[in-house]
Amino acid sequence: MTLTADPVPTRLLRSSARQSYDPEVDIDWDAPPVDGLWFMQPERLSLYGTPLWDRLTDEQRRELSRHEVASIAGVGLWFELILMQMMVRELYDADPRTARTQYALTEIGDECRHSVMFGRAIERLGVPAYGPVRHVHRLGRGFKTLASGVSGYASILVAEEILDRWQRELMKDERVQPLIRMVSRIHVLEEARHMSFAREQIQDLVPTLSRRSLGWHRTITANTAFFVARSLVNPQVYAAVGLDPREARRQALGNPHYQRTLAWMGERVVGFLDEQGLIGRGQRSTWRRSLLMP
Ligand SMILES: [Fe+2]
Ligand SMILES: [Fe+2]
Repeated sequence: MTLTADPVPTRLLRSSARQSYDPEVDIDWDAPPVDGLWFMQPERLSLYGTPLWDRLTDEQRRELSRHEVASIAGVGLWFELILMQMMVRELYDADPRTARTQYALTEIGDECRHSVMFGRAIERLGVPAYGPVRHVHRLGRGFKTLASGVSGYASILVAEEILDRWQRELMKDERVQPLIRMVSRIHVLEEARHMSFAREQIQDLVPTLSRRSLGWHRTITANTAFFVARSLVNPQVYAAVGLDPREARRQALGNPHYQRTLAWMGERVVGFLDEQGLIGRGQRSTWRRSLLMP
């Protein structure tokens, strides 16, 4: 076997060469937004169906969708910065001749373009760069410096899978702005490879763990899932349509529609991680509180 014969990374490298996007040229950044369209699927908005939602005008609801989609994109961008750093750190000791290393570098390149794309989309939306709330931003600083191995890849997979579910629906929705749909389409296409890679890393690494380190990786993964899911909608988005962020946040977290949305976003990744033995009994309550597990 040659150094580059690892089948999954080899296949992913070929696929990256065949199909990758350059958002700089593949997106029409100058096209003005289309009047009357949503910025994301209204039924997936955190307040959909709540008493507060009923009080908003149609225009306010669409405006909320503009801020909420930007918040989710901002959290995606934040997590991409975390995972790029984690992967770069890991590659410091890797053999550059292998397909695995070469694919990991290719993935970092994809993420780098995605972050530019999300940044530019948020700028075009004309809204603040929300990102996660301050204490989660601070926790992320520690995580990106220390995370590695199974929980590193499992955390990457959680963020990628939940956004993937949501974006696959978003990109097909004709009620949504073309810019947002195109950004989603590009992301979905390239992330499919990243998720295959993360799944393979997890499958390879889990059997090598001792009981004790398995427990550690389960705990880290559950906590990352909790913070990522809870961060998707920064409460400040509610203030943009004149709502009290605290009350709106309270109604969003108690909203059965939104609870179902998060469980739907988490369904696939929760199933996979559970199958891999990465969700122990001790972590179920954290997973449930993340709302990604019903
Ligand atoms: Fe990405
Ligand atoms: Fe990714």
